[in-house]
Amino acid sequence: SQIMVLNGPNLNLLGTREPDQYGNETLADVENNCRATAQQYDHTIDFRQSNHEGSLVDYLHEANEKFKQGELIGVIINPGAYTHTSVAIHDAIKGIEPPVIEVHISNVHARESFRHHSYVSPVAAGTLIGFGTKGYDLAIHSLLMK
Ligand code: DQA
Repeated sequence: SQIMVLNGPNLNLLGTREPDQYGNETLADVENNCRATAQQYDHTIDFRQSNHEGSLVDYLHEANEKFKQGELIGVIINPGAYTHTSVAIHDAIKGIEPPVIEVHISNVHARESFRHHSYVSPVAAGTLIGFGTKGYDLAIHSLLMK
C-alpha cells in the first residue's frame, strides 16, 4: 500500500533556502529517505510538491479516492506557509477519510508569532514539529509501526 507525502510552497528550494532553519538536505534527499523507510515496511511513497494551494487541495482529494479504494493508508503533509493561512487545506483535510500527519522541519513555535498558529493541526491525526527532515521519516514510522 501507499503513503502520499505532500509538500507545499517553497519546499522545492530545500537545501538552499535558509539552511540555518531548514538544513542542507534537498527535497530529493527527503524523497529518497521516505522511499527507503517505506520500503522497510513493503510500502511505497507517492511524493509531491506544489507551490499552489489549490493543487494541494486536489492532491488531498486524490488521496481520499485512493484511500477508499484501499490503495493508500495515509497522508503526510508539510503545508509550508499555507499552514498559517489556509482554511481551504483545513477544510480539505476535514472532508477526507485518510489520516493526515502534519510535519514541520523547523520548530515553528520558536520562530515568529505568525508561525505559531496552524489551520492544519486541529484536523491532523498528529503533528511532528522541529525534528528537521527526520520528521518525515518519523511520520512514516508512526503510520506503519505495529
Ligand atoms: C515550514 C514552516 C513554515 O512556517 C514555513 O512557512 C515553511 C516551512 C517548516 O517545515 O518548518 O515553508 O512548514
